[in-house]
Amino acid sequence: MSYLEDLFSVAGKTALITGAASGIGLMAAEALVRAGANVMIASRRGAECAKIAAELNALGAGRADGFAGDVSSEAGVSALAGEVKARTGRLDILINNAGLSWGEPLDTFPYKAWSRVLDVNVTGLFHLTRDLLPLLDAAGTHEDPARIINLGSVMGTQPIADGAYSYTASKAAVHHLTKTLAGELAGRHITVNAFAPGPFQSRMTAFATGTDEKAAKVGSRVPLGRIGRPDDIAGATLYLCSRAGSYVTGAILPLDGGQSVQHGMSLFKDLD
Ligand SMILES: NC(=O)c1ccc[n+]([C@@H]2O[C@H](COP(=O)([O-])OP(=O)(O)OC[C@H]3O[C@@H](n4cnc5c(N)ncnc54)[C@H](OP(=O)(O)O)[C@@H]3O)[C@@H](O)[C@H]2O)c1
Repeated sequence: MSYLEDLFSVAGKTALITGAASGIGLMAAEALVRAGANVMIASRRGAECAKIAAELNALGAGRADGFAGDVSSEAGVSALAGEVKARTGRLDILINNAGLSWGEPLDTFPYKAWSRVLDVNVTGLFHLTRDLLPLLDAAGTHEDPARIINLGSVMGTQPIADGAYSYTASKAAVHHLTKTLAGELAGRHITVNAFAPGPFQSRMTAFATGTDEKAAKVGSRVPLGRIGRPDDIAGATLYLCSRAGSYVTGAILPLDGGQSVQHGMSLFKDLD
């Protein structure tokens, strides 16, 4: 095995990625399957997950298995955890990626858009993690901890809402929960980190990145001058899930082309 393979290998690891039939979850799933992991993908559209899994299986190296799972309710979380437990007795990697957003002006922001978003982005994430702890415990060791990656967002770090008030609050909650769980689970050989992505193409962001022209316009507002690419998610996923990332926990990893360090103000320049 080469030096790079040894350091960044995820071969043979078992993973669950929620909401991975599209967007960022699919980018992470493809990376793990190409690198030899066995990846379960689940979202409400079970048939779509099965179809995407078949496409991933054609890439070789690892395996993918797609089925239905809904993290928006206690019953849904419990059923999904049951599906996973029926397939494996250990989970090396859990990527809590399922998420949704709601954008509307502040003055008319609907009451239901609060729980609709928080139920999936925060409550579902927490309870699925709790329900899968026995499988993560079974996989994690002192040398090779089990890994949890939560999907936060640059919008959970920077105070921009763009009308997505419940979404940005949910992502700030994900960041906080990530750090809390990292502290609590380190002793159980489980690392907990979050991605805080800037703009990536997905179903959720299709309204803003769905055409090359729109993607270029959004990208021009990012300090590095582009939106995120699948490789940006792949690299970060392989890092955090392999031996290379085994000493990292509690990190909120900015995958945002510099958006989180952009501020647009100067206190002392050009005063005269
Ligand atoms: N794209 C970006 O620019 C960006 C930036 C920062 C953070 N993020 C985060 O990245 C994650 C993935 O989003 P994305 O942008 O890739 O959007 P996406 O393509 O819409 O993916 C989100 C996935 O979540 C699934 N989902 C929604 N509700 C669910 C539920 N109740 N149970 C299970 N799965 C559910 C959806 O599948 P079903 O409809 O089949 O359930 C969908 O595949 C989200 O947490 C998002 O907040 C995205």
